[in-house]
Amino acid sequence: MARDILFSGIQPSGQLNIGHYFGAVKNWLRMQEDFDCLFSLVNLHAITVRQNPSELRSRSLDFVAAYMACGIDPEKSIIFAQSDVPEHSELMWLLSCHTYMGELERMTQFKDKTAKNTDNINLGLFSYPVLMAADILLYQTKAVPVGADQKQHLELARDLANRMNNRYGTLFTVPEPYIPSVEAGGRIMSLLEPEKKMSKSDDNAGNYIALLDSPDVIRKKLKKAVTDTDNEIRYDRDTKAGVSNLLTLLSGATGKSISELEVDYVGKGYGHLKVDTVEAIVALLTPIQAEFARLRNDEAELQRILKIGADKARFQAQATLEKVKQAMGLL
Ligand code: TYM
Repeated sequence: MARDILFSGIQPSGQLNIGHYFGAVKNWLRMQEDFDCLFSLVNLHAITVRQNPSELRSRSLDFVAAYMACGIDPEKSIIFAQSDVPEHSELMWLLSCHTYMGELERMTQFKDKTAKNTDNINLGLFSYPVLMAADILLYQTKAVPVGADQKQHLELARDLANRMNNRYGTLFTVPEPYIPSVEAGGRIMSLLEPEKKMSKSDDNAGNYIALLDSPDVIRKKLKKAVTDTDNEIRYDRDTKAGVSNLLTLLSGATGKSISELEVDYVGKGYGHLKVDTVEAIVALLTPIQAEFARLRNDEAELQRILKIGADKARFQAQATLEKVKQAMGLL
């Protein structure tokens, strides 16, 4: 029996961080066994903000190696670059003609990004969620494992699938989001400003732990992580955002639940929590980093994997695009 399709992607901008790992990649690994998966490096999304071309190229290969170092297996799953499958951009246009300006104006990520990039509020930044819907709908995707920040974009993809299906007959599978609860890592917060999401495009690297940070850097960053003054290790995102975030990281890295950790840390101080969090994250990342170094050394192999992935993805994408064009009356 054919398995359901899973699609997800990360923009190759900035450095992969543990927010991506806990929010998205961890679910990718779990779900890889049960779904036919496509994991994309969504580089067309990355260019909505200015990129240095040679850095973007090299970083894209870093991301392929990182996906694999985390455990994505190119024998089981398709790994490919979005720009290698032009059907994404073409379906985007067809969907754009069915997307309302008001829907895009409501997107909170658009509002945040325009506030940050006042000198480059481009059309791509605005229409970005339509490209994301195209990424998903092109493959008849059933499952989309992402972090909580992508929920609104996923809702648009679902609305567009339903809208197109109602108008033209069934063209698309309606995708379902898979978002971990916030306690389980769906929204990892910044270390220095725990009211803000941990983000790879943050100017201050002290706000995030990159997947490739050395143990020493991780120790320094977590030592500076903002907590509070009541010295009680308890999960409460409203009044204890920093401590709650540390508990989430420790829980994600050890597999212990937050309530178990709260019991373990009764009477202990924040220093203790931080030292244990460093140890758990270093233990999680050390084998990933070793595998990354090995894989990143062989660029020809990474290129080969991307080529195989793009060929397979394209084959599936063409079938959907053809169906949509026919249904819309395009010759
Ligand atoms: P991106 O590149 O910003 O992030 C990649 C994935 O990591 C999740 N994530 C987080 N999860 C928890 N805590 C955080 N602090 C955190 N930061 C990021 C994101 O939710 C995401 O799952 N638009 C998407 C990329 C994309 C995509 C797609 C995803 C394009 N097309 C189609 C799924 C399907 C993005 O910008 O993710």
